[in-house]
Amino acid sequence: MNVAVFRSGITLAVIAAICTALVATTYRYTADRIAANEQAWLERSLQPALSGLFYDSGVTESKIVIPPPHELPGNEAAVVYRVYAEGAPVAALFVVSARDGYAGPIRVLVGIETVGVVTGLHVLEHRETPGLGDRIESTKSDWAKQFNGHSLLDPEPAGWAIKSDGGQFDQLTGASVTPRAIIKAIKETLLYFDERHEEIFAEANTEELMEETEQ
Ligand SMILES: Cc1cc2nc3c(=O)[nH]c(=O)nc-3n(C[C@H](O)[C@H](O)[C@H](O)COP(=O)(O)O)c2cc1C
Repeated sequence: MNVAVFRSGITLAVIAAICTALVATTYRYTADRIAANEQAWLERSLQPALSGLFYDSGVTESKIVIPPPHELPGNEAAVVYRVYAEGAPVAALFVVSARDGYAGPIRVLVGIETVGVVTGLHVLEHRETPGLGDRIESTKSDWAKQFNGHSLLDPEPAGWAIKSDGGQFDQLTGASVTPRAIIKAIKETLLYFDERHEEIFAEANTEELMEETEQ
């Protein structure tokens, strides 16, 4: 083999090894910070769904994952964050997918107080059209706030629809597909919570939290 080619090969191998080591070292030193940032982002995203509630647990501390098949909206695993005050359950935050969005599934966070009242709706991810369906975002309109304080008793299940479908809730001008999908998802989440709230709060973490508070 030509000596020059051999040298070039060795040089390239050394450069590749140095680059790999640099990437590995950078990853090692930034992984913790990335995880902390992600945690902070998640906490910030979850807080709008807890408006007006007193709680003293970390919002993301007590998480359960409900694998499919389940009766919640969406075909993927649903995530539930359980929130406590002095060890007692206060609310559950459901991360679910409204399946029938105009441009695909809409990932939403539905906060529900233990008594079954909606504490907040927050849109986490969507591909709805700017200027039409994207007004579901809390930075673009107050549309998402209209659900706060409502439950399956107010209105009754048939009222959980947009006004043009005979329900109680506002749609968005020129965009009824997106609101229809989200309202259906909130209603399904409320129905699930109504049937299973004891199960949702009956996980081991609840006991751990209570024990910690009693000490
Ligand atoms: C390019 C395009 C994008 C649209 N994007 C949305 C959307 O993101 N959300 C939505 O609900 N409707 C969207 N629409 C409108 C729907 O097709 C439908 O006409 C509308 O939701 C019906 O609302 P209305 O009952 O208030 O007329 C879009 C329509 C077009 C042509």
